[in-house]
Formats: sequence, C-alpha cells, structure tokens
Amino acid sequence: MSEAPKFKVTIDNITIEVPAGTTILNAARMIGGDVTPPAMCYYSKLKESGGKCRTCLVEVSKGSEKDPRPMPKLVASCRTTVMDGMEVKNITSDKVIDARKGIVEMLLINHPLDCPVCDQAGECDLQDLSYDHGTEGTRYEFARRTFEKEDIGPYIQLHMTRCILCYRCVNTAQELTNRREHGILERGDHSEISTLLGKALDNEFIGNVIDVCPVGALTDKTFRFKNRVWFTKPVDAHRDCPTCSGKTRLWMRGDEVYRVTARKDQWGEVEEWICNECRFEKKETKDWVIEGPSKVSRTSVISQGHYVNTEKAHVLIDKVIGKQPQLLMDIHAISDVNRPEIKLSEIEGPAHSDDFKGSV
Ligand code: SF4
Ligand code: FES
Repeated sequence: MSEAPKFKVTIDNITIEVPAGTTILNAARMIGGDVTPPAMCYYSKLKESGGKCRTCLVEVSKGSEKDPRPMPKLVASCRTTVMDGMEVKNITSDKVIDARKGIVEMLLINHPLDCPVCDQAGECDLQDLSYDHGTEGTRYEFARRTFEKEDIGPYIQLHMTRCILCYRCVNTAQELTNRREHGILERGDHSEISTLLGKALDNEFIGNVIDVCPVGALTDKTFRFKNRVWFTKPVDAHRDCPTCSGKTRLWMRGDEVYRVTARKDQWGEVEEWICNECRFEKKETKDWVIEGPSKVSRTSVISQGHYVNTEKAHVLIDKVIGKQPQLLMDIHAISDVNRPEIKLSEIEGPAHSDDFKGSV
C-alpha cells in the first residue's frame, strides 16, 4: 500500500510535514505547546466527535500553495484538513484570540459559577479555558437555564446546568455500549442530556462518559464531595480484569483510594476505556498492583508541587511569534536599586549587596 502524501503546513510560524488528511488541530498537536488550539468537543479516541464547541477556531491566512487565498472566515481546526503549503494562525491571530473570548463567554452564559462545590474543579477544561481566554464579567442579563433533576443511576451524577452540549458522552455511549440509552433531547437552548424515561445508565462501560465530559456535568457518585482532586495523589495501577485492560489511575490520599479513573494522555483524553467494576467497585489498595506516581503531562493544578515527570512546553514563544517577545517594562530602566549591567538571573549564587546600586 502506498503511503499517504505529505503536506507542509505552517502553524504560528512553525512548519511541519504531516500526512494528507490530517486535521489542522492534529497537525498543531504534533507541534505541541501553545500552538495547539483548545478542544472542548473533539476527542481523538472517538470515531465521531468535533465541530460542536468552536473553541478550536483558527485563521487560515494562506489556503494552500496552489490557491494561496486566505479562508474568508475562521475555521474549526478539528474539522478542517490541511492542504499543502497552508498557513495557519492560532495564538498569533488577534481575530482568533477575540473569537475565542466570545466563545468562552457564550459557553459560560448558562454555566453556573459553582466551581467551589463542583467535583470537576481543578481538572475542568472549561475552567482552564476561562482562565486562559475568559473575561471577568458577563454581559448576559437573563436567568440561566434550569432543569428538572434527573437520576441516571447509582454511579453517575448528571448536572445538566453544567453541560456544554459537546456530545462527547453521547458518542462514547454510542461506540462503547450495545444500545445507547441517553442522548440530547430538544433543540436550541432547550437541549438537554437525558434518558427520556429517567432510566439508569447501566452498561458495564458507561462510566467512561464521566472521563470524557470536559466539565462537571457527569461526575462519579462514588467520589462525590469526598475530596478535592488536588489533595489526592494520582498513581498508575492495574489489576487482572476479565472485562477491560484493568489499567487505571487511582486517586489516593494516604492509603485510601478515593477515585478510580482511566489513564489520560497529554491532551486529557482517555488512553484505554475501563469497565464499571474497576472504576466504581475496586476502592481498596489490595485490589490493585500499584505501578507508581502517574505522569501528569498537562499543565494543571493536579501537577502542582508534588508530582514528578511533568512535561514542559517544548516550543518557545520566540519561535511561535517569529521574534523575541517585546519587553513591556525594563525593570533596570526604572529601578532605583538594580544595576543595569548586572543580570541578577545570571549571576552565580545568591545576589549580594555589591550587585545593587548604592554599594559602589
Ligand atoms: S454531559 Fe458532558 S460530555 Fe455530555 S454533552 Fe454535556 S458536557 Fe458533553
Ligand atoms: S474542538 Fe473543534 S469545534 Fe469543538
């Protein structure tokens, strides 16, 4: 079989060759770091996903080598494939930054500001996105949506007010279970996740919808309100499971297992789906063979302080913007104490009084 031809694409001034058919988002993921657009609905582990949330919008400033005209509108990078010679702007485009701000505002229009009591806090994609791109206020003056509470079973808690209608849980259930029992009902701002008849979701792989949900709309009832995620310590563990691979991540405090989830990759996506028994019923350390601390590769509150092997961004900002960043304020020019000829960050050992003005 002949290999797919390679296309050259430049994203934020960084050029990479990717197989034809690669989306802009996946090409950006191959570069990594800040060049990668955020994705709230795309999920590479699912056959169907993307195109719903618009957080991954980018500007195509050159369509291709053959047709260099820019694309007239921003495009969803998860749904647009690269062309040979294409040039894309993500963080180097003011239009993109502005649009993303608007999208975050839109996603937050109906989202409750209940992070202090939400189990997803600390590992919520919407929380991260609003810190990166949101504004401090909203212009929305109407009452937020409310829903009748729906019980979807003993393991999964549905908080419909937090849902951003990304469809990830629907696509996950569609692919992993024999007969999907939930979906999105109604249209427009009446849309809601529901089983319609208040049925329990009880397929043995249904717990995976918790892991794919980018917000706190679907959470684990066995972990609810038990601990904040940043107080727990993730360790990789496995067991001999007859249903799934048994490779999981345990969230522990001391010797106690508070929560079991699938292992996630650097994009926060599940590596291997796990079964309900591993997730909800094996909460003792003796149930597991512990492999060691998890590699938390996302820049996240979870990796603060006490975890090893966190991955640092390998694309530096000067490469992305094609020049050294502009210094907004030169501290030496205005400081009464610093000596401009001495770079304090480069001297050996701690600074000494000789290194400051007034000592000479
Ligand atoms: S419940 Fe979560 S995963 Fe499902 S559509 Fe809503 S936000 Fe997406
Ligand atoms: S990630 Fe592309 S539209 Fe949601």
